[in-house]
Amino acid sequence: MADGILKTYLVTGGAGFIGSHFIENVLCNSGTRVVNLDKLTYAGNMHNLSGFSENQNHIFIKGDICDRRLLDKIFNEYEIDCVVNFAAESHVDRSISHSYPFIHTNVIGVMELLEAAKGHWNNFNGKLFLQISTDEVYGSLSEGVFADEKSLQRPGNPYSASKAAADLLVMSYFNTYKMPVIVTRSCNNFGSRQHFEKFIPTMVNCLKKGEKLPLYGDGLNEREWIYVKDHCSRLLDILNFGQAGEIYNIGSGCIQNNIDVIRKIIGIYNGITGSELDESVISYVKDRKGHDRRYALDYSKALKFFNWAESSDFAQTLQETIQSYL
Ligand SMILES: NC(=O)c1ccc[n+]([C@@H]2O[C@H](COP(=O)([O-])OP(=O)(O)OC[C@H]3O[C@@H](n4cnc5c(N)ncnc54)[C@H](O)[C@@H]3O)[C@@H](O)[C@H]2O)c1
Repeated sequence: MADGILKTYLVTGGAGFIGSHFIENVLCNSGTRVVNLDKLTYAGNMHNLSGFSENQNHIFIKGDICDRRLLDKIFNEYEIDCVVNFAAESHVDRSISHSYPFIHTNVIGVMELLEAAKGHWNNFNGKLFLQISTDEVYGSLSEGVFADEKSLQRPGNPYSASKAAADLLVMSYFNTYKMPVIVTRSCNNFGSRQHFEKFIPTMVNCLKKGEKLPLYGDGLNEREWIYVKDHCSRLLDILNFGQAGEIYNIGSGCIQNNIDVIRKIIGIYNGITGSELDESVISYVKDRKGHDRRYALDYSKALKFFNWAESSDFAQTLQETIQSYL
């Protein structure tokens, strides 16, 4: 073990949006070393690592979680205490047009990671496999319904189906091999460094370019939004104090329909740039196939267990996010 290092995390997908914020947070603790394994797909960006690229406790490895030989090499070389798996194909629209990479990375890749960890962890003392999942596995919910961890998985598109399959696989390793695993299911994240194909960056980008803002269907689909830094600090609590074999929903209580989020984005954009844009910049486009209407989490289990404070203020963190894209 390197000097002063108490724990080594294998973080996968750390050059992506949430993974890079998570690593930044983890590295604040000088006793933790991070091995960051990322394939650098179109969604991975080395620029996301610029804030901590000089940190000696961060080791970047370009590679695929489906590559078992590479995983074995990493487990042999570093004493991995925790696996935190962010690596995924993450964009629903892409899963609808090309689902194969989603099954490959999000299901086969997770199995390879589980197998590598099982093979190298002689005993499971002090080990943990944390799978980062999503509220989308619960599928579309009716008005007034909130999904808790016991709710049925009813994924509505190939992306969420691949994540649901991975969740089942991960939990099966707890039941079968007593491997210490935890699954977290977070709602929609927002913040800096998100890929431009995602909802908020797309809208800001269109505003910047003077283009129309594409809004699916009637714009009334509802999503729950969490600031990415809140999500990452909650993940650290779960890593440190969570119970193996558990699933934890990570919600924020901030449920908004898409048109309201766009209205807020336009308002903030006007405030920052001095523009006077109104809703005429919105263009209603053909709805996504099988578009889930509403996601909403009951996250009272984690809220009570970890004694979490309220989530950050949506308007303020949205402002910071938009500022980061401008
Ligand atoms: N963004 C959200 O709102 C949200 C919400 C809930 C859960 N999640 C989950 O959180 C995780 C991270 O999401 P994100 O938004 O940061 O995604 P992202 O698309 O921004 O990043 C994914 C990262 O994984 C890497 N990657 C992809 N395939 C890989 C492979 N085979 N091997 C190694 N690396 C690979 C990419 O290069 C990229 O850096 C995903 O598992 C996603 O399902 C995301």
